[in-house]
Amino acid sequence: MSFLSIKDITKTYRGSKTPCIENLDLDVKEGEIVVMLGPSGCGKTTLLKLIAGLEEQDSGTISIDGECVDRIMTERRPISMVFQKPYLFKSMTVFDNISFAPKVTGQIKGKDELRAETQRYIDMVKLTGFEDRPATQLSGGQEQRVSLARALIVKPKLLLLDEPLSALDASLRVEMRTAVRKICKELGQTVIFVTHDQEEAVAVGDRIALMIDGRIEQFASPEEFYTRPRSITVARFFGWKNEIPCRFDGNDVLESPIGRFRIDGRTSDPSDMIMVMRPEAFFESSNGPIIGKVKEAYYMGVRVDYVVECNGYDLNVSLDTSYLRRPGDDIGLDVNMSGVWAVDCESDISFTQQTDSEKGLKGIFSIFKKDRS
Ligand SMILES: Nc1ncnc2c1ncn2[C@@H]1O[C@H](COP(=O)(O)OP(=O)(O)OP(=O)(O)O)[C@@H](O)[C@H]1O
Ligand SMILES: [Mg+2]
Repeated sequence: MSFLSIKDITKTYRGSKTPCIENLDLDVKEGEIVVMLGPSGCGKTTLLKLIAGLEEQDSGTISIDGECVDRIMTERRPISMVFQKPYLFKSMTVFDNISFAPKVTGQIKGKDELRAETQRYIDMVKLTGFEDRPATQLSGGQEQRVSLARALIVKPKLLLLDEPLSALDASLRVEMRTAVRKICKELGQTVIFVTHDQEEAVAVGDRIALMIDGRIEQFASPEEFYTRPRSITVARFFGWKNEIPCRFDGNDVLESPIGRFRIDGRTSDPSDMIMVMRPEAFFESSNGPIIGKVKEAYYMGVRVDYVVECNGYDLNVSLDTSYLRRPGDDIGLDVNMSGVWAVDCESDISFTQQTDSEKGLKGIFSIFKKDRS
């Protein structure tokens, strides 16, 4: 049974004509870290507020650990929340900030026990030595570590994190996302982590729920988002950049303006399709099907990102740095078919994946059919 169960939630803000969240279902297992990923304004914070009881849904129910919390006030729900901005008690030290809640609620009774438990969480978030530091004298990363310890020490059944790292600079963000995941996993903490950063979502989450316009477009493991996105919208969010119109000849060939591609072992009706190709699926080959000209080159350290012009199409191509090409150079390319899909119609329509066995494929090529349900 799921630990957090959200059933058919709809929320429309007063004055708004359209729902901000519509018929949303979400099931989270105990100890799982689920990332809500999605563009600005898609309803991520609203969903957290509904779970926390800071907003009320129009319909639907929310249960935590088997208990329906719809009629339970925020302060009585078994949750902690951490926001983008740390709201620390400025007049207190790190130690007092962290020990405050269990002390005033009486959750931890004895003085010694409170001291030991607070110290345990201070050590866990790697703030040992900072116990007596005033909250006003901390870096952004240290402030978020205090926020995290403060949220965890009350042992919530559910931890809600709303873009907790987005105010930090890039390298600190990377360090902190690893720390957050490690700490929550060690504690077996169930977490909903909100972000609009796809890389962060993949690094932190056991599963990711991609939210678009108040609905969950796909709920799956990070790996599935890369290998089996449900729709073109999802694919775009996860870095499938090149969309090339093509024609499947009904046997085993895709004809496209950038070249002719062979897919073995597949037959179906001839149809117009769109090939979606990951930038890193390309490799250099003097006898490959693609002949193009380098238009732009961006050296990224471990790889080079190129824009390659081929028969009127700009291809996003990511190659290793062993041989650098310059704008104006001719380039021959081939493509690893595991990084290619053909979808059978235009964008922003949901596609449902047909398994390779249903289609009689050999596992190198996934075909998506329009969802007609
Ligand atoms: N109190 C409110 N009253 C009316 N509309 C609101 C309210 N809060 C949010 N909204 C609207 O609901 C939509 C979703 O907002 P929400 O804050 O949940 O988005 P979000 O996904 O968290 O975005 P971001 O990534 O920018 O934080 C937005 O269009 C927003 O303008
Ligand atoms: Mg938000």
